[in-house]
Amino acid sequence: MRLLFVCLGNICRSPAAETVLRELLEREGLSHALTVDSAGTLDYHVGSEPDPRMRKALRARGYQLWSRCRLIQSQDFLDFDVILAMDQQNVRELRRICPKPELMSKLKLAASYCTRHSVSEVPDPYYGTSEDFEHVIDLAEDFSQNLIQHLKTQRPIN
Ligand code: 4NP
Repeated sequence: MRLLFVCLGNICRSPAAETVLRELLEREGLSHALTVDSAGTLDYHVGSEPDPRMRKALRARGYQLWSRCRLIQSQDFLDFDVILAMDQQNVRELRRICPKPELMSKLKLAASYCTRHSVSEVPDPYYGTSEDFEHVIDLAEDFSQNLIQHLKTQRPIN
């Protein structure tokens, strides 16, 4: 099973989601069950490490980051089983590059897996405060725990 998180820059939200889910998978001994990656719809930061503010916020909670920014490709719709977008703007971009209409069913909003927060999107923290970065991690922990529950109880993620 292969899961891809997508945001705009691939330096804040989607690398945070990738990091949190990977770490929780590791703790549960489930790393073999799910391959996790992330990508962005904007090419501006390609090759960069995640934003220093996100790295700091993740480190403070004991997470290690190791992703590098990459651009989403049409091929990702073939290579991944589930594609989780952070907001509706990402969904619109992903629709535009989706190579076949039937592959659109792989696309969902990551926040739709939240159980403790009533949100539909993960808000962009880029022009925000340290609290906005914390909020991204709160949401990532929420939906990642639920995704892990799906795996544990063998419920389909998509
Ligand atoms: P992300 O945040 O989509 O969560 O990685 C952003 C990063 C960079 C920009 C916007 C959002 N930017 O405009 O460069």
